[in-house]
Amino acid sequence: MTGEIHVRRERAADEPGVDALLRRAFPGPAEAGLVACLRRDAQGCTSLVAERGGSLTGYILFSPVTIEDESASEHRAAIALGPLAVEPAVQRQGVGLALVRAGLRTCQDAGEGLVFVLGHPEYYPRFGFRLAAPLGLHYGDGLYDRAFFVLELREGTLPGPRGRVRYHPAFDGL
Ligand SMILES: CC(C)(COP(=O)(O)OP(=O)(O)OC[C@H]1O[C@@H](n2cnc3c(N)ncnc32)[C@H](O)[C@@H]1OP(=O)(O)O)[C@@H](O)C(=O)NCCC(=O)NCCS
Repeated sequence: MTGEIHVRRERAADEPGVDALLRRAFPGPAEAGLVACLRRDAQGCTSLVAERGGSLTGYILFSPVTIEDESASEHRAAIALGPLAVEPAVQRQGVGLALVRAGLRTCQDAGEGLVFVLGHPEYYPRFGFRLAAPLGLHYGDGLYDRAFFVLELREGTLPGPRGRVRYHPAFDGL
């Protein structure tokens, strides 16, 4: 498949195609189930799709998270990237890069300050993500510190809150 990669917001009509793509891109149905659950239960998610030659080739979702700040009584709001998936037949051709870049821009334009991601340590630093643990930010009990990253979307947000980053409960099933 060739042609320009076009990234746009997901529409309701995309949902069956996105569900099928998630099932092909990941080894099992967990991520497709997660997205179905977030669509039903979570507020404030942002999802984009990539198209090339008129076909759906990729998907990215951002969902709200809270930082359970150790030194403050109030929890702080942020967002998390994931899942991100590219159609297996067209992986490593720039679709993931286009989705992440467009997604980060969209979140920045919406005024978000921090974005987290739990994912491949070789993939995310190219977008400016850095390890979250040295800043005192952890996913769960810290077991995933080597794969948990943060990116500042609004200057001056880091260093900021420290503590556990809580995803929507739907992520517990992964
Ligand atoms: C990971 C994924 C989203 C990357 O998207 P992509 O369109 O294939 O990748 P891109 O073409 O945009 O980026 C290519 C670059 O990413 C790197 N890359 C691709 N997949 C990677 C992976 N699984 N781990 C580490 N690096 C990866 C490539 O080496 C390449 O880097 P280079 O240009 O320095 O060689 C895609 O491969 C995918 O959907 N994988 C299955 C689902 C998954 O693992 N999702 C991510 C969960 S964190």
